[in-house]
Amino acid sequence: MPLRIIPTQPIAGQKPGTSGLRKKTRVFMQPGYLENFVQSIWDGIGGIQGQTLVLGGDGRYFNDRAVQIILKMAAASGAARVIVGQNGFLSTPAASNLIRVRGADGGVILSASHNPGGPDEDFGIKYNMANGGPATEGVTAKIHAASEAIQQYRILETSDIDLSALGETPLGAMMVEVVDPVAAYAALMEKLFDFKSIRALLESGFRLRFDAMHAITGPYAVEILERRLGAAPGSVVNAVPSPDFGGGHPDPNPVWAHDLMAAMHGPDAPDFGAASDGDGDRNMIVGKGCYVTPSDSLAVLAANAHLAPGYAGGLKGVARSMPTSCAVDRVAEARGMACYATPTGWKFFGNLLDAGRATLCGEESAGTGSDHVREKDGLWAVLLWLNILAVKRQSVAQVMAEHWAEFGRTYYSRHDYEAIATDVANSLMSDLRTALPGMPGRPAGALSVDTAEDFAYTDPVDGSVATAQGVQIRFHGGARAVLRLSGTGTEGATLRVYLERFDGSDFLQDPQVALAPVIAAVDALAGIASRTGRAEPDVIT
Ligand code: G1P
Ligand code: ZN
Repeated sequence: MPLRIIPTQPIAGQKPGTSGLRKKTRVFMQPGYLENFVQSIWDGIGGIQGQTLVLGGDGRYFNDRAVQIILKMAAASGAARVIVGQNGFLSTPAASNLIRVRGADGGVILSASHNPGGPDEDFGIKYNMANGGPATEGVTAKIHAASEAIQQYRILETSDIDLSALGETPLGAMMVEVVDPVAAYAALMEKLFDFKSIRALLESGFRLRFDAMHAITGPYAVEILERRLGAAPGSVVNAVPSPDFGGGHPDPNPVWAHDLMAAMHGPDAPDFGAASDGDGDRNMIVGKGCYVTPSDSLAVLAANAHLAPGYAGGLKGVARSMPTSCAVDRVAEARGMACYATPTGWKFFGNLLDAGRATLCGEESAGTGSDHVREKDGLWAVLLWLNILAVKRQSVAQVMAEHWAEFGRTYYSRHDYEAIATDVANSLMSDLRTALPGMPGRPAGALSVDTAEDFAYTDPVDGSVATAQGVQIRFHGGARAVLRLSGTGTEGATLRVYLERFDGSDFLQDPQVALAPVIAAVDALAGIASRTGRAEPDVIT
C-alpha cells in the first residue's frame, strides 16, 4: 500500500475553540483541510507511533468520508490499532467511555455537537486524551502550534474500509477494529443505575418520551430505554440518525425541541420527556407541563445522586462552569461539599474529575455529567433523573417544588445574540472590560454593581491559568450577569448573556419577568441594543 507524503502549508483559522475545530462543512471538505488538522493533531501530541486510538462521530454529513481519511492517516503515521464505531458512529460520551475501558491512548471525535449538519451546515473534529476527556488547554495549544508549522501530511493510498461489519480488518500495518457503538456504553449505564427500579416505574404505567432529534442517541436510547428498561416501543422518537438531522437543529432546548415541549404541555402529556443533541452529550429534561433548566437540573442531581447505586457513597464534590447558575452551590453548601466554578468548556472539569475532587459537574448549556466518563453525557442525565423518580415516586414538578422549598430558587436565563458582526462583538466586550474597574458602586437601572471582573481561573490541580473567560458582574442583592463570546459559532460572533437572580420564597414567577431588572441593568452597562441594533436576543433559553 503506497504511503503518500503530501507537501502542504499552514491554513489560517485552524485554531481550536471551546470544543475542537468547528467550521462550515464545505470548509472541511476542501482538499487537504481536514488532512492538515489531523496531521497537526498527530504532530502536536508527539506522534501516534504504536498507539491505540478510538474514532467515531455523530453521523453528520461528511462523517463517513472523514472517518476513512483519518483511518488512512493513522495507518500512515504508525498507529497500531484504531477502534471505530460501526459505520463510523459513536456518541461523544460513548467515545469517551471506549477510550477509558479499552485503555486507548486517545481518540478523535467528529461532531459539531448541537449545530445543524449537512453540506451547508457545520462539521467539527476534536481530539480526546487517554483519560477520555477533551484535550487540555496545553495540548490544544500544541496542536495549534503544529498547525502553524505544518509542511506535509502522511496518508495511505488505498481503498476505503468496510465499516458496516463488526470485526477486525488490517489497514497496512495497522488494525482497524469495528465495534458496536452501543454495547460498552449500555453496560456502563447498567452498572451506575438501578435498572430494576426504573423498570418497575415504567411497568407501573409511567410514560416517557425521548426525542433523539434524528441524531446519534437514537440507537443508544432505543437499546437502553426501550429494550433494556421496557419503555413502550415508540417512546424514543426521531430515533434514526440522519446526516442532516432531518433538516433540524439538534439542540435540546425549548426553542429547538419545540415538538417535545408541545407534547409535554399537551393534554396527553407523558410523565417524563427528554432530548439529547447531535453527538449525545447534552440533555434536556421536562416533566408534565414543567421544563427543568439545566442549572436547576444540575442542582437536583447533586442533591439526589446518592439514590442511584453508582453514587450511593455520596459525591466528592461538584463543579459548574462559571456562567451556570449558583443553584448547585446552595446544594453543595447545605451538604458540606466542595463546589468549583470553572471556565466554559468541558475540558476544564477533567482535572477535577481525575483528581477525585468532583464527582458531578455541569454547564448551563444542557451539559451534565460525572466521573463515569470525561465528557458530558445526555443519556446518563436522563437515566439519573429516571432513577431518582423511580425511588421517590414523585412527578418532576413535585421534585422541583421540594427542591426550591429546601434550597430557594435561582431564576436563570441565557440570551444569545447570534451572527453579529465580529468587530461589533469584539468592541462591545473590550469596552466592557475597560470599564470594569469603575463599575463597582455604579447604578445600572434599578440595580447597582457590587463586583465586576473578567473571570480568570487557576486550575487547583495543575496550577494552569485561563484568563479572559467572560465578564462577571455581581449586583447588590445577589443578582448576577455574565457576558462572553461563544467559542463554538461558525458565523460572525455570538454574544451570550447569562442572567440570574435568587429568590428564597417566591418560586412561581415567569423567569423573564423575575429577571427583568437584571436584563435592564446589563443593557445599561453594555449597550447591547444600541451597539448590535438588536432589540431582542435571537434565542432565549
Ligand atoms: C457552548 C456552551 C458550552 C459548551 C460548548 C460545547 O460553548 O456554551 O457550555 O461546553 O458549547 O458543547 P460556547 O459556544 O458558549 O463557547
Ligand atoms: Zn454536543
